[in-house]
Amino acid sequence: MNLTEKIVKLKEEKHAIILAHNYQRPEIQDIADYVGDSIELSQKAMLEKDADIIVFCAVDFMAESAAILNPSKKVLLPTLGARCPMAQMLTVEEIKRQKTLHPTAPVVLYVNTLAATKAQCDTCCTSANAVEVVSSLEAKTILFGPDRNLAEYVAEKTSKKIIPIPEWGFCPTHLLFQPEDVAVLKNQHPNATVIVHPECSSEMRQAADFIGSTSKMCTFASESKATEFIVCTEEGILHRLRKENPRKQFMIAYGDAVCPNMKLTTLDRLYAALKEEKYVVTVPEDIAVKARKSLERMFESAGLVKAKRS
Ligand code: 13P
Ligand code: SF4
Repeated sequence: MNLTEKIVKLKEEKHAIILAHNYQRPEIQDIADYVGDSIELSQKAMLEKDADIIVFCAVDFMAESAAILNPSKKVLLPTLGARCPMAQMLTVEEIKRQKTLHPTAPVVLYVNTLAATKAQCDTCCTSANAVEVVSSLEAKTILFGPDRNLAEYVAEKTSKKIIPIPEWGFCPTHLLFQPEDVAVLKNQHPNATVIVHPECSSEMRQAADFIGSTSKMCTFASESKATEFIVCTEEGILHRLRKENPRKQFMIAYGDAVCPNMKLTTLDRLYAALKEEKYVVTVPEDIAVKARKSLERMFESAGLVKAKRS
């Protein structure tokens, strides 16, 4: 048996399900039961009834959300070091400090945060629903973190005053995209459509024909009549885009736009994770209760399924 066959066999024996983010390595995406963006993976984990184990091939905060939303399941993160640097950029202390400065402003946190910070906010959001979540709030001023670019994007799309917390939060991978690289490609492919993740800079968003979460980018590319796309997000998405649209051409705007944390999950590590049932993701109950409320509010205000656990 090869490694892929061994993983499939073990997965069945252990009643496990494998969820993978759109940035995972091609071989991980191909072996997964479901591939998606952060909101889709959270929903899948929350609504999973049959499996005993959820193996989350992604980064820390995504696996943590799964453990919070479906506490009866064993959630495994195959590589302990797969941590999103942006999620480390906002601390509980900074949220508390900002709440003192702006006592009436609700706190909206991107899911790219750790559970302890989620426990301090009013609602979470993802890049797929940030505009809807913020629009659903009555308040005119919102504290929003940790991604400054997503905060600016939400400010552009709503009538709200958005205060970014911290002032400087960013994704190191999306920072790599520069408008001049898009201009070079656009010169060579004048009919190409530019698709951009909202974690990119405002200059990059200005160059975009479409802005959305990773799965929204996939849906847009499949439904679009365009045949050439300049892609401005982590390179792992190219595998899914090409697989779903074999007749279309996808060019990444910056070849080295790799999230090293997303790439830590390999078939070897996935096999070891299933075999040894490691690394189990747990969240202290007092934090999980509060963080769950923030995640559930996101599902409700974005008009998605009402939070329901198995
Ligand atoms: P998506 O929710 O769009 O998949 O984004 C998650 C992420 O970490 C982007 O860098
Ligand atoms: Fe975090 Fe950026 Fe990697 Fe997404 S791409 S997981 S935001 S470091």
